[in-house]
Amino acid sequence: MRFQDVEKRFGDHVVLKNLDFTVNKGDRVTLIGPSGSGKTTILRLVMTLEEATGGYIFIDGQPLTHEERGGKRVELKERHKNEIRKRIGMVFQQFNLFPNMTVIENIIEAPVHVLGLSKKAAKEKAMGLLEQVGLADKADAHPLELSGGQQQRVAIARALAMDPEILLLDEVTSALDPEIVGDVLGILRDVAETTDITMLIVTHEMQFARDVSNRVLMFDGGHIVEEASPEVMFTDPKEERTRAFLSAVLDH
Ligand SMILES: Nc1ncnc2c1ncn2[C@@H]1O[C@H](COP(=O)(O)OP(=O)(O)OP(=O)(O)O)[C@@H](O)[C@H]1O
Ligand SMILES: [Mg+2]
Repeated sequence: MRFQDVEKRFGDHVVLKNLDFTVNKGDRVTLIGPSGSGKTTILRLVMTLEEATGGYIFIDGQPLTHEERGGKRVELKERHKNEIRKRIGMVFQQFNLFPNMTVIENIIEAPVHVLGLSKKAAKEKAMGLLEQVGLADKADAHPLELSGGQQQRVAIARALAMDPEILLLDEVTSALDPEIVGDVLGILRDVAETTDITMLIVTHEMQFARDVSNRVLMFDGGHIVEEASPEVMFTDPKEERTRAFLSAVLDH
């Protein structure tokens, strides 16, 4: 996943400017940075829930939404975007399950309608994933009958049901009660250990970031301020901005 000179503006408000970074295949990259700096925006751009106002994003060498043709920035066809989008999964802070569908329906929706799996095959796969996240007995429940932690486990199963090559995790435990944060992070640790899915993770859980990621990017003011291994970033960051941010977060 490569960001090249990406800009994102909301009206006059420039959130990302000249943003360049690369996440290699199989990398687990944690993105840290202050509230409002644009971390969610970066993930939403990759998920094509937002579109960049400048620059280019590449997935596996292919342009995501725009490409350069004859010196012009040209928007790509919806069909192209849909093809690339299939390869990317996202788990949100607020779960974002479909409230009118049961758990199993939530999980099979995209595999059936986007990948064209048969209902039977999609259900079998969904049941396997529900077992993996410890919720096989909740297949026919509705999301609102579940606790926050359970809903988030369903959301993880739903993302994995698409066999994503890239998984985007946006503060997936920050809406959860402290005592269940560990369960959800444990599931994600397993996913990290047992798959080679490329992950881009926004989290304030520094221990999780240390356990799972191989690189940490400190992001502020629309661009990457510092990049390091978790060991270095969390113990001996070079930039004053990173030090100030981390001491505020770690004191918290
Ligand atoms: N749809 C939108 N319309 C207008 N402004 C937006 C929109 N989405 C985000 N923004 C603005 O973009 C900036 C970055 O927001 P973003 O949610 O990406 O930050 P963040 O780093 O994820 O923050 P947090 O750590 O609090 O989640 C903020 O100033 C926000 O107000
Ligand atoms: Mg955010």
